[in-house]
This record gives sequence, C-alpha cells and structure tokens, in this order.
Amino acid sequence: MWKADRYATHAPFVPLLGVPVLELLNPQPGERILDVGCGDAVLSDKIREAGASVVGIDSSPDMVEAAKRLGVDARLADAADLKFEAEFDAAFSNAALHWMNRDPDAVLKGVRRALRPGGRFVGEFGGHGNVAAVTVALLAVLSKHGINDPSALNPWYFPAPAEYRAKLERAGFDVESIELFPRPTILPTDMHGWLETFAEPFFQALPSSDRAGALHDVIGLPKPALCDAEGRWTVDYVRLRFVARAK
Ligand code: BEZ
Repeated sequence: MWKADRYATHAPFVPLLGVPVLELLNPQPGERILDVGCGDAVLSDKIREAGASVVGIDSSPDMVEAAKRLGVDARLADAADLKFEAEFDAAFSNAALHWMNRDPDAVLKGVRRALRPGGRFVGEFGGHGNVAAVTVALLAVLSKHGINDPSALNPWYFPAPAEYRAKLERAGFDVESIELFPRPTILPTDMHGWLETFAEPFFQALPSSDRAGALHDVIGLPKPALCDAEGRWTVDYVRLRFVARAK
C-alpha cells in the first residue's frame, strides 16, 4: 500500500529527477495533459504552473488524496482501464509505468485512446536492468525462505527499448525517441527505508515472523556493492525515456 508520507521521506528524488522529462514534455499554456501514475502530483503541479490543465490518475487512494491536497484534479483509476476518449493534447508519466506490470499493452492502448491524433506521450520509467542488484538480493532471500517462484512476486516491469518500442507502435504510436541509460541514485535515507517504501509485495509472501530477518538479509547482500564507507547507498537505477506521438 502506497503511503505518501513514507514516499516523500525515502524517495523525494523521484519528482526532482523527473524534471528533465517534464522539460521534454514542454507543456504549453492551454494544453490539457494526462499524468499517468501521478503519485503525489508534485510534477502534475509543475505542469499546471506552465499554464496547462492536468488530470492525474493513480491507483493509490493515499497518493490521490496527497495530489488533491496540492489542488490537482487527481482521480483514482486503474491505468490498464482508462476511459478517456481523444481529450488530451499530451500524456506524461514519470517513474510509474514500471508498476503497471499486469498489462502494459492495455495501459498504452488506454493512453493512446485518451490522446487526440498527433498528441504526444512523454515518459520515463525503470528500464531493463533497473535496480538489478536489489532485485537479485530479493529473489535470493525469498528463495532461501522457501518461496518456490519468487519472480512471480516481482511487481516491476523493466522492459528493454526494443520491446517497449514495439508495444508503443502496436498501441498506435509513432516513436520519436526511446533510450535506455543508467542513473545511479544516492538514497536520502537508506536501503531499509527504500525496501519498506518500494518492495513490500515481495515480503508480503512471507509469514510475518520471517519478515524482519528477510529484510535484514536483503539489505546485507548488495551492501558491499551499493553502500560506501560513509554508509551512503547508491542504487543502480536504469531509466527508459521515450517520446511517442499518437497516429
Ligand atoms: C524506479 O523508479 O525505477 C523504481 C522505484 C522503486 C522500485 C522499483 C523501481
């Protein structure tokens, strides 16, 4: 369950590092823009500051409430079941599409339907290889705790550029650019806070009596690679950034 306050404490870098994606979107006064997976809407608010009107959608009630507190028109919705029809000039998404792992094609079709022809979709999310060291640790520890197929618990979708380009094209977009690049990210707190904020679905599979020990083990495995002598963690984020246009 997403908690807006926990997110703001352990991951304030998410909207900050999303600013280049916002610049790529280049929102114009009077435009109507859909923010897909708006979270606490820090970036939706910046789109509004540019003079555009924004609708944010998110599947977390806590995030939608936080977004509304900023005055953003935020709606609780499943991104794989969007109901908008040709009513937006552009769609935007930062650090959210990797959570929509159940049916990414349905997400893209819904975004395409929401856009007028020629409307742009500008996004960035976790791409192939994202948070690999932490993922390996999570899968190894769950396996050690007797989970047969720990990959089935993985809530994340981190596609390679060719795979996502094909999905965008199948959904009715022309892809203007798509690139994968590493973005090592220093955590403002620590791995414990990061795992509690982002990796809950992995731990829920364990009996509650096992969770603290498993968390401890998941922190210990990547520590030699990701944590420096001062105790600062740098996570191996990889971004997939794209600009696509509705046909
Ligand atoms: C990401 O933004 O890439 C991300 C954040 C939390 C968990 C997984 C990926």
